[in-house]
Amino acid sequence: MKITLSVIKADIGGYVGHSSVHPRLIETAERMLSQAQEKGEIIDFFVTRVGDDLQLILTHTNGLENERIHKLAWDVFEAATEVAKELKLYGAGQDLLADAFSGNIKGLGPGVAEIEFEERRSDPVVIFMADKTSPGAWNLPLFKIFADPFNTAGLVIDPKMHPGFVFEVLDVHTGKMARISTPEEMYDLLTLIGSVEDYIIKNVYRKDGEIAATASVEKLNLIAGEYVGKDDPVLIVRCQSGFPALGEVLEPFAFPHLVAGWMRGSHFGPLMPVPFHHANPTRFDGPPRVIAAGFQIAEGKLIGPRDLFDDPAFDEARHLANVISEYMRRMGPFEPHRVGPDKLEYTTMPQVLEKLKDRFQ
Ligand code: 13P
Ligand code: 13P
Ligand code: MG
Ligand code: MG
Repeated sequence: MKITLSVIKADIGGYVGHSSVHPRLIETAERMLSQAQEKGEIIDFFVTRVGDDLQLILTHTNGLENERIHKLAWDVFEAATEVAKELKLYGAGQDLLADAFSGNIKGLGPGVAEIEFEERRSDPVVIFMADKTSPGAWNLPLFKIFADPFNTAGLVIDPKMHPGFVFEVLDVHTGKMARISTPEEMYDLLTLIGSVEDYIIKNVYRKDGEIAATASVEKLNLIAGEYVGKDDPVLIVRCQSGFPALGEVLEPFAFPHLVAGWMRGSHFGPLMPVPFHHANPTRFDGPPRVIAAGFQIAEGKLIGPRDLFDDPAFDEARHLANVISEYMRRMGPFEPHRVGPDKLEYTTMPQVLEKLKDRFQ
């Protein structure tokens, strides 16, 4: 049986500010999804959040980009937005860019990551969810997981992984995708994906064509040609038996790499791996957070989640992230803590330049 795992997320109101999601929004989502489950529209679901982003994790047999599934998610976000408005939560309905649903939730504001696969004898997956950052944040960890033998021992010693993986990279400015094969084209891949705001890894495939990982890149995809904000992304990674082991998938996050999206979507900061209960970014609205939910899929049922960063082995990464945060914060409004002028979410630059235009002699 082919199972589809859909992760659909949106910020539809922050509690308080942009720091968290109010429990009533989660309850609303759970109630509606449990009704959908009773009607047989989905096999299983799990609702969670990271920072101010509400995450719907769904399993079904309808395939990718299914209109009924996307409509269900849209309806949940709309209903929860009503609750957010009633509670006057911050930025209620922030990510619902369209007035009404039209066929596919992609391009309407929410982020989507979906994979369809034949369930294996045992099928572990990890769903990463981040707040205060952008889809380019996954470039470095995805490279390490699927192409760096110093991260992933299996690339060297597992015959099934030894051939390498194929990366599908989105050019944010044209909306076009290119497939790049590793290890042969590793340097070409790095040339592109090191520019995390311009080239984003969308999918990773095994060389036999089997999907290994997929990330949400929605708004970036939609408004190609023009720079559009940060999209608090999600990422699905399949593990074990021909894919990287669970620990190889988590390993890159032991290094809190710098990502864009902190405070007003306009500052760089370290991506801190946290347990679910610490996914409430408050210091300067951050630092950026990532959680990892592990599931075993059994006949489409979501067995889990395991809160995978709830492990003292990630304490040093958290500590380092705090040290880096302290260091970066002392840069205040200076680059490279603040992002460059073309990547600011909003800016006073034109007004200030207009005011000062006669002073440049
Ligand atoms: P406002 O307070 O004007 O909404 O902007 C600050 C902020 O929170 C940016 O996301
Ligand atoms: P979100 O993108 O998580 O809503 O954060 C907005 C922001 O600018 C916080 O400072
Ligand atoms: Mg928000
Ligand atoms: Mg957010």
